[in-house]
Amino acid sequence: MNITIRKIRIHEIAALHFLINNECNINGTVLRKSYWQLLMLLDNYQVAVCNGKIIGCAGFKCWPGRWCEIVSVVLKSGTRGKGIGIQLVQSLIVDIQSRGYHAIFCLTGAREFFAKLGFCETQKNLFPMKIWSDCKKCPKNIGSPLDPQCPEIAMILILNS
Ligand SMILES: CC(C)(COP(=O)(O)OP(=O)(O)OC[C@H]1O[C@@H](n2cnc3c(N)ncnc32)[C@H](O)[C@@H]1OP(=O)(O)O)[C@@H](O)C(=O)NCCC(=O)NCCS
Repeated sequence: MNITIRKIRIHEIAALHFLINNECNINGTVLRKSYWQLLMLLDNYQVAVCNGKIIGCAGFKCWPGRWCEIVSVVLKSGTRGKGIGIQLVQSLIVDIQSRGYHAIFCLTGAREFFAKLGFCETQKNLFPMKIWSDCKKCPKNIGSPLDPQCPEIAMILILNS
C-alpha cells in the first residue's frame, strides 16, 4: 500500500464528510460533523491517501488556553491495523506543535492507540467546556460523560512549546 499523509484539499471535503459520518453511524466512535463544520475546520485536518482516495483522517479543534483536542480519527475499515492511524496522528501532532499549543487532549475509547502516541490517561473533568458542549452530541446517547457507563476516557499529551 502506497500511503501519503498530507493536509486535506478543498475538493476532498465530501469524502471527509462521508468517512467521519459513516463511522459515526456504524460504530459511534466519533462525533458527527456537518459539511459546514468541516469547511470551517478544514485547515486542521490531515488525511491518509491511497491511490488518490482518502482512506483516513484526523483533525483538531482549538480550546482556550492553548489547548487543542484531537478529533475525527478514522481509518476506513479494511485499512486498519497497518500502522496508518499512528502515522496520521503523528503527522497531526507535528502540525499542532508547530502552531504553539501547550497540550493536546482527546476523549477516546482507543486507550492503547493514544498511549502509543505518548498520551496519558487523565480526568475528564479537566475539560468541562468540551464535556458540556460536545458530549450531548454523542451517538452513544449516555446521560452524562461522567457516568461510569461512558466508555470514553480522557487522555492528554503535554507539548514542549
Ligand atoms: C483507531 C484507529 C484510527 C486506529 O488506526 P489504525 O491504523 O487501525 O491503527 P494502527 O495500525 O496505527 O495501530 C497502532 C496501535 O494502536 C492500537 N490500536 C489500534 N486500534 C485501536 C483501537 N480501536 N482501540 C485501541 N487501540 C487501538 C494497537 O495497539 C495498535 O498496535 P498493534 O498494531 O501493535 O496492535 C482505527 O482503528 C479506526 O478508525 N477505528 C474506528 C474509529 C475510532 O475508534 N477512532 C478513534 C476514536 S477517538
